[in-house]
Amino acid sequence: MSRIFSGIQPSGELHIGNYLGAVKNWARLQHEYDSIFCIVDYHAITIAYEPEQLRARRHSMAVSLLAAGLDPNVCSVFVQSQVPEHTELAWIFNTITPLGELERQTQFKEKSARQESVSAGILNYPVLQAADILLYRANLVPVGEDQVQHLELSRVCARRWNSLFGHRTGNKTEDGADEREQFFPEPEPLLTPTRRIMGLDGRAKMSKSMGNTIGLLESPEEIWNKLRPAVTDPKRIKKTDPGTPEVCNIYHLHKAFSPVATVEHVATQCTTAGWGCIDCKKVLADSIERELVPIRSRAAELAAKPKMIDDALSAGADRCRRLARDTMDAVRDRMGF
Ligand code: AMP
Ligand code: TRP
Repeated sequence: MSRIFSGIQPSGELHIGNYLGAVKNWARLQHEYDSIFCIVDYHAITIAYEPEQLRARRHSMAVSLLAAGLDPNVCSVFVQSQVPEHTELAWIFNTITPLGELERQTQFKEKSARQESVSAGILNYPVLQAADILLYRANLVPVGEDQVQHLELSRVCARRWNSLFGHRTGNKTEDGADEREQFFPEPEPLLTPTRRIMGLDGRAKMSKSMGNTIGLLESPEEIWNKLRPAVTDPKRIKKTDPGTPEVCNIYHLHKAFSPVATVEHVATQCTTAGWGCIDCKKVLADSIERELVPIRSRAAELAAKPKMIDDALSAGADRCRRLARDTMDAVRDRMGF
């Protein structure tokens, strides 16, 4: 069975961008693949943070992931820092990754532009991500579109390491070189149709750091207070102006949350100016509510059972430590340690 691996930072609560771009897909895929999902707390410390807050956020991310449908009896859910081999393999990949490739990463450029002093951790962030995936020799990585460039770097790490340290197979490649075993597979992204959810400001991707999110566990009132002023088709000034659904972020959210018939109805009401934007948002709020009610109630149940969460994470870490140790034994052997 192919293996999938994905990770999420414990940086505040899960939002509907994370959910639609990644986590909802994970809940489906866990039944089709050998699945490993990781709360990447070592990635989260590449920006300033409070230790107590990190502890709390790790726990609340686990609650949200299980509430959103990950079943620890079906897949492995664990915390990155509980498997030290992640940082060990990251160090090894650092030694074979050209600096230029890290400096070219879009997320590095964006994050470093926002900060006065840029740590080496921000630069090396995608190398740790490559180690996360390759430690389990995962083939597929379900993520949102913003992670595609990082995954390209994971493939480069795999390719370069294989060509330097993979055992010689005894065959020759097309260009006459010694063929090497493909010890690490080159992982491919698995994207959803909602690979990039825009924020409620309609300008940037939905992201915690932009303050333009809808949290998965927010109350209907909180969600409505955010939806009501959310940006729609900028050309639609009056209720009687016909709109263009494809340019409206609310329409795209309808496509993610509303049944097909509702989406079609919304488009007709918009293009004929039958509804105003508030009417359209009310229907969206209902659709979001339908999807989030069961998640919210599962989260409330799980939050009352901290031991169950801790047990699930520790079972996940036990399994992952075993897999990680096997990989690192082979890596150390091939690298001369
Ligand atoms: P992060 O919160 O940055 O750790 O992201 C966790 C997962 O959610 C990754 O797979 C991201 O690609 C995905 N993701 C984050 N924001 C969005 C968004 N606005 N639209 C779609 N996917 C997203
Ligand atoms: N960089 C990812 C994000 O910000 C999180 C992540 C870390 C990840 N390691 C990973 C995603 C491995 C997929 C696979 O969303």
